[in-house]
Amino acid sequence: MKLYDSHAHLNEDTFTDAERTEFIEKIQVGIDSGLLSYVNDIGYDLKSSELAAKHAALYPWCYAAVGCHPHDADNFSDEQLAKIEELAKQEKVVAIGEIGLDYHYDNSDREAQKYWFRRQIQLANRLHMPIVIHEREAAEDCMNILKEEGAFSAERKAFFPKRRGPVREDGSCEMLDDARVLLHCFSGSAELGRQYVKLGATLSIAGPITYKNARKTVEVAEQIPPEFLLVETDSPYLTPVPFRGQKNHPVNVQYTAEKVAEIKGMEPSELAEITCKNAKIFFNVQG
Ligand code: NI
Repeated sequence: MKLYDSHAHLNEDTFTDAERTEFIEKIQVGIDSGLLSYVNDIGYDLKSSELAAKHAALYPWCYAAVGCHPHDADNFSDEQLAKIEELAKQEKVVAIGEIGLDYHYDNSDREAQKYWFRRQIQLANRLHMPIVIHEREAAEDCMNILKEEGAFSAERKAFFPKRRGPVREDGSCEMLDDARVLLHCFSGSAELGRQYVKLGATLSIAGPITYKNARKTVEVAEQIPPEFLLVETDSPYLTPVPFRGQKNHPVNVQYTAEKVAEIKGMEPSELAEITCKNAKIFFNVQG
């Protein structure tokens, strides 16, 4: 398989140096064996964004996103945002993220979450960069803010090449607007997924699709065409079956890809190829 793990945390701040080294070495083994092609290191505050950018500069298979997670909104500032903007301009920093809203944990004040979410969408628009969204129990506010801040505006979409829709019976396909907005670890309904795809967004499926209670996400995988899907681990979190309970790792993205392929009645290698291609286009990764 040739998998693109669209969302991982090599930058995880609970890692010891030894754990981080081991985590990265194990990715290298996955790359060398041909299982993995690329792994994104996703920032969630200034420090983790700096580390993600550093990893992207160090490893050919690594690309970075930079931004402030809603959990860290209370501690974010204009000075830090300016530093995120500088990082975003580095080569191989390919997206602003993960940004969004989390009303499940409410680790930061909701007004602060919304404020920095808006400011970072504005940054992504100004820099013409893809956006990686984290949303939990905040579906309505998340979509409204994305719309209000122009994440799906004609102006933003005009900057990105159109994307190929599903192939029709006669082999043709429609060319569709691409807003380069990614809903990471999408956990909403198939209906919400369809609304997002219609707006030009992309959905990323993570390990929870392998869990017994994953009915909603299984429906998403059934109903959303593969052209609009990516796969990810969110490692070291969200470990898929059969390793649930252990620390997650990018090599485990294969279990999520296999599950999505099984649901769609496709070969895992075919699903891997399509989602890898989608991710390369989404993050503008060459080669
Ligand atoms: Ni994450």
